[in-house]
Amino acid sequence: MRILICDDPREAGEAGAARIGAALQARDEPVLGVATGSSPLPVYRALAEGVGLAGVDVRAVRAFALDEYVGIDPAHPERYAHVVRREVTDRLGLDPSRVHVPDGTAADPDAEAARYEAAIRDAGGVDAQILGLGANGHIGFNEPGSALDSRTRVVTLAPQTRAANARFFAGPELVPTTAITQGIGTILRARRIVLMARGSAKAEAVRAVVEGEVSTAWPGSALQRHPDVTLVLDDEAASLLARAVRRRALESSRA
Ligand code: F6R
Repeated sequence: MRILICDDPREAGEAGAARIGAALQARDEPVLGVATGSSPLPVYRALAEGVGLAGVDVRAVRAFALDEYVGIDPAHPERYAHVVRREVTDRLGLDPSRVHVPDGTAADPDAEAARYEAAIRDAGGVDAQILGLGANGHIGFNEPGSALDSRTRVVTLAPQTRAANARFFAGPELVPTTAITQGIGTILRARRIVLMARGSAKAEAVRAVVEGEVSTAWPGSALQRHPDVTLVLDDEAASLLARAVRRRALESSRA
């Protein structure tokens, strides 16, 4: 696990974009895995400015979102299909027909989850996956207790997650209670993973991901089993890491 500490959001975005872009460059039809939420936004801004994308045919990129709310009003601006369109597809100039989000309005969400898992596999898997991290350690919407080999499926959102996402809705009770998410096992099949985390609210989860036991109690800890993971943190998110780990991270961030 490689750790970078970049306090400036712009630098963090550029560091993330450089690592994501490098994994896309070698492929004819690269597959990008996208997260929603606030953490990855600096990466999308940097990619939109071309950071890391030299030699990448952006129109050939295929993209798969991590997750989507189930039962959200199809017109709601926080429906991830709309968020991904705004923040990723339009900004980066991707071909919308190549950008995929689980259909949270599907009549049979379980069947939709299975279809989505198969679509990622049929695309050859994800080359570069961008992740955020929940304060409770979730990746995608794999809440604590999720099996480490889980696949795309319908999940119930933890109260903490609904509370954290209430900022995007007119009231906390309006945050959907269920979602379709790629599983932890699905995420771990990506060839490269870049996780973005900022702020003290993420510090405990970051410590569990980096220094804890691999455990369903902290889903992000499963990333320790992946050979190519980079965490891009700010000082606050890194604040609970062992001093030696932080020192090494700061050194490699400056390198
Ligand atoms: C988003 C997702 C979530 C978020 C996480 C952090 O698609 O799957 O895991 O990445 O909740 O959200 P932010 O970045 O808003 O703190």
